[in-house]
Amino acid sequence: MRVGILGSGLMGGKLGTLFTRAGHEVVFSYARRPEKLDRLAREAGGNARAGTPGEAARDADALLLAVHWSRIEDVLQQAGDVSGKVIVSCSLPMNADDTELVVAHTSSGAEELAKRVPGATVISAFNTIPSEVLFAVFEARGNATRPSLVYCGDTGSGKQLAARLIRDVGFDPVDAGQLRIARYTEPFGLLVAQLAYEGEGGPELAYRFERYGK
Ligand SMILES: NC(=O)c1ccc[n+]([C@@H]2O[C@H](COP(=O)([O-])OP(=O)(O)OC[C@H]3O[C@@H](n4cnc5c(N)ncnc54)[C@H](OP(=O)(O)O)[C@@H]3O)[C@@H](O)[C@H]2O)c1
Repeated sequence: MRVGILGSGLMGGKLGTLFTRAGHEVVFSYARRPEKLDRLAREAGGNARAGTPGEAARDADALLLAVHWSRIEDVLQQAGDVSGKVIVSCSLPMNADDTELVVAHTSSGAEELAKRVPGATVISAFNTIPSEVLFAVFEARGNATRPSLVYCGDTGSGKQLAARLIRDVGFDPVDAGQLRIARYTEPFGLLVAQLAYEGEGGPELAYRFERYGK
């Protein structure tokens, strides 16, 4: 699969590296210094390169949107026409100092994003997990049990594609339903962040849902 990374920071840099290691063709874009994108592409090995957001978007089967909420408009403008694309967004709609959700209850960041790019399919995923645990989850992907990762969206084909990427990183994808369910998954992402960054065990934290009774 060809995956364009829009925002190559903690999440985009690591997920792009893991997508590359899983065999995907990756274009890293949108960092303040182009050298950083070159370094990420070099260190990811495999089929990765650095590019502009427009280049990342052009031939992509999927785009990972991984920028701060305040940068969404800018990165989308630079990406150009994203009609027909699947946008997997891990971006949480946080205020400037990352202390509060600025969209919640009656909408979600993912739904607001979908309104901004009506021709694209938005899938909300990877926003309930700290970046610090991603490599460890990938390393443990051969274990019998995998950590869960919730995702949601409105089209079956987009969700299939997102589920494949989630599996490739080493998680067990949990389909939470339609995109409006991001109203629940986004605050849940803050709970996980609270446990990861304010809890005692450190930020290398993942979660797993278990179903009983069958
Ligand atoms: N970090 C997590 O564990 C985590 C977990 C769940 C969800 N999220 C969400 O995921 C999204 C990304 O988070 P993150 O932690 O990966 O953020 P980050 O490390 O700050 O990465 C953001 C990327 O955007 C780039 N960028 C920012 N301003 C720019 C500008 N003016 N021009 C060009 N590039 C610019 C940054 O460039 P530089 O590389 O030069 O800094 C960086 O590559 C956020 O919405 C966050 O809420 C994060």
